[in-house]
Amino acid sequence: MEPDANLTPGKTAHYPKTRARRVAASSLPPHGVTVRDRHKQVMDMRDSVVEAIPIPGILVDRNGRIRESNAAARRLFSDQINGRHYVAALRQPSILDALEQALAAGETTSAQFLAADERGDVAFEATCTPVGDTGHVLACFEDRTAMEEAGQMRRDFVANVSHELRTPLTALLGFIETLRGTAREDAEVRERFLGIMAREASRMNRLVADLLSLSRVEAEERLQPTDPVLLSAVVQSVVSALGPLADEHDVQMTTAGLDVDLTVPGDADQLAQVATNLIENAIKHSGPGAAVGVSVQSTDAHPMIQGDAALLLVSDTGVGIDSLHVPRLTERFYRIDSHRSREIGGTGLGLAIVKHIVNRHRGRLRIESEVGMGSSFLVVLPRGETRSGHENPHELS
Ligand SMILES: Nc1ncnc2c1ncn2[C@@H]1O[C@H](COP(=O)(O)OP(=O)(O)OP(=O)(O)O)[C@@H](O)[C@H]1O
Ligand SMILES: [Mg+2]
Repeated sequence: MEPDANLTPGKTAHYPKTRARRVAASSLPPHGVTVRDRHKQVMDMRDSVVEAIPIPGILVDRNGRIRESNAAARRLFSDQINGRHYVAALRQPSILDALEQALAAGETTSAQFLAADERGDVAFEATCTPVGDTGHVLACFEDRTAMEEAGQMRRDFVANVSHELRTPLTALLGFIETLRGTAREDAEVRERFLGIMAREASRMNRLVADLLSLSRVEAEERLQPTDPVLLSAVVQSVVSALGPLADEHDVQMTTAGLDVDLTVPGDADQLAQVATNLIENAIKHSGPGAAVGVSVQSTDAHPMIQGDAALLLVSDTGVGIDSLHVPRLTERFYRIDSHRSREIGGTGLGLAIVKHIVNRHRGRLRIESEVGMGSSFLVVLPRGETRSGHENPHELS
């Protein structure tokens, strides 16, 4: 703590004569408390107030020297900033301007301050507030990184959605134009174009449905579902429903464990969606001639959730995925070959939805893949307690 030049202990304070002197006398420290004690109390208090600010904070005196700083500020700048001039300690022009103006004009000012820590770049909003009429200015640094990132994510998301919708919309508008003009009288061309238009429109439909489903799952993510769900039966019905798609793509599907009852606490519709998205991916992205295996199995004390688990494994012998892409697959709109995926109607939301549903169930998703060797998607769900405590949901009314 640096001593304040105006309050140096032992110095006699100068008071204007007469009335001011009387006021000063009436506010003299109580008997036995020296000016030095009083000064120390004020300094300690100033120290504690700055220290109590929950974000980095520094107090700058009218000469521009840093009088106080809290631990958060010393971590941000340096252990030795107390006593230094703010120009030397802070260095970034925008914050220097803001402090200079606050000191000179006695106005509250703010500025951006950029720093870096082990997480990467950190963006602060610094507010410089004059402290009463002391001539001091308190500068506090609020970490806005999370907010800036959230803003960036929102902008990216809107840009992605617009882009995804614009592609089929542009195609639709183009075909409408052609059908009104040159293709008007050609029944064969008309039929072909209407087919493409139907496909593009259903792409948009699917995209909107996926977005709605994603936002619903995200909204409920904190609420862990507890209804008993017969996972094996849910997966079996998804496999049956996707049989025709597998035939269409010339993919051989095999199953294991679906005839053994296995119940988990969950949301049946969402678990069906997890199975659908994973199996659909295996069928669509593997390539013709691939084999897809779907299995459900119970296991005790699974290390990934540190408890008893139900496992859903969807594996394929398809094209596989480069390890470069694996960590990013569950990001919204992430597709390895976006052109190919779009050709087969993909929007890149399937695995993002899977991840959120699995999170909501307090489960884990593990993706393993090798180019040319196929991929496996393992969902580990806690077997935990179901709300009713019934082991067999068929017993429920
Ligand atoms: N089994 C798989 N084999 C190879 N690549 C896969 C497999 N599953 C997913 N992928 C890759 O991961 C990407 C993301 O999958 P995701 O399910 O999120 O999107 P999508 O299938 O392209 O579209 P959507 O599921 O929204 O219709 C896919 O575009 C594909 O490139
Ligand atoms: Mg998919």
